[in-house]
Amino acid sequence: MSASGRKEVLATSEAELPRPVDPVADPMEEVEEVNLRPRSLSEFVGQEQLTEHLQIVLEAALARQQPVDHLLFSGPPGLGKTSLAGIVAAQMGVGLRITSGPVLVRSGDLAALLTDLQEGDVLFIDEIHRLHRSVEEILYPAMEDFKLDILIGKGPTARSIRLDLPRFTLVGATTRTGLVAGPLRDRFGFVGRLDLYQPDELAAIVSRSAGILGVPIDPSGAQRIGERSRGTPRIANRLLRRVRDYVEVRAEGRITEEAAVAGLDVFGVDARGLDKVDRAILQVLCVQFAGRPVGLTTLAQCIGEETDTIEDAYEPYLLQQGFLQRTNRGRIAGPQAWGHLGISPAEATLL
Ligand SMILES: Nc1ncnc2c1ncn2[C@@H]1O[C@H](COP(=O)(O)OP(=O)(O)O)[C@@H](O)[C@H]1O
Ligand SMILES: [Mg+2]
Repeated sequence: MSASGRKEVLATSEAELPRPVDPVADPMEEVEEVNLRPRSLSEFVGQEQLTEHLQIVLEAALARQQPVDHLLFSGPPGLGKTSLAGIVAAQMGVGLRITSGPVLVRSGDLAALLTDLQEGDVLFIDEIHRLHRSVEEILYPAMEDFKLDILIGKGPTARSIRLDLPRFTLVGATTRTGLVAGPLRDRFGFVGRLDLYQPDELAAIVSRSAGILGVPIDPSGAQRIGERSRGTPRIANRLLRRVRDYVEVRAEGRITEEAAVAGLDVFGVDARGLDKVDRAILQVLCVQFAGRPVGLTTLAQCIGEETDTIEDAYEPYLLQQGFLQRTNRGRIAGPQAWGHLGISPAEATLL
């Protein structure tokens, strides 16, 4: 990410900050989601390499009886970053404090959190790429030397004092590492990238969640839901809840393969896992612009979403599946897009 991109993020006033990328619509679902969170690395499905590395880092810290090095997790929303922060705290047997970049408006907000930590605690900062510059600056000595510099007084008599902080572990999460300032990124001892999940991993997550929610499900039903979850566990759990609603009302309460497909169709999730917004994006690329490059801002305006939401939540899956491509002149329809909409590039120019 360019320096100018970062400035843009910092210059934005709070009122103009983009809304969260993946708002949880229903507070009850938020409660349920907490119950569905994996509580240990052994319950955490997929991301084998990342979890293996993390296991080693945690075990080594435990053996040395030291706090874990600061950790940064990056990846699209809903892939398990917050869950991992909780797992780190649980496996280390320490407390967990949760905050997020945009919430920390003044440096004092972070200072209050830091001085309240216990030895070894995990401080989780979500959306760490959206930290205010002044807050970021007090974070550096805190991460590096476990010191807090505070300024007392104003004008010529002002002086700065250094406070000792307990040794803590900072866990940061970001949807894009490119947006994290270099000096901040360098202070993490471990950077883990989460990738989109495979359909069978998602099916395993769906089966596990169905067990926790007490919904009977056939393996083939879990497979269908997994395949249509856009590589994202949070979406898998959300679709599971929608299909649960469907089978409770329209079927016998069991998620069979047929019931899963029928339920997903009702809620507008197609065979490739694309939802209404995904299809609107393809429509803009293939029909409205007939395969010509479209700038991100234009694309966002056409479908009425924030540019960040498109980049963080929609594009990763569309890119991975060949529905969309990024070029230096803008976004264009990928080879899969045409077949999915059932039109050819030649036809599109005539529409
Ligand atoms: N590897 C995983 N195994 C099982 N469930 C997962 C996994 N990753 C995420 N989830 C589920 O997805 C939900 C969203 O994960 P979360 O950690 O909040 O993602 P993020 O913080 O990256 O947006 C969690 O509540 C959990 O139920
Ligand atoms: Mg999260």
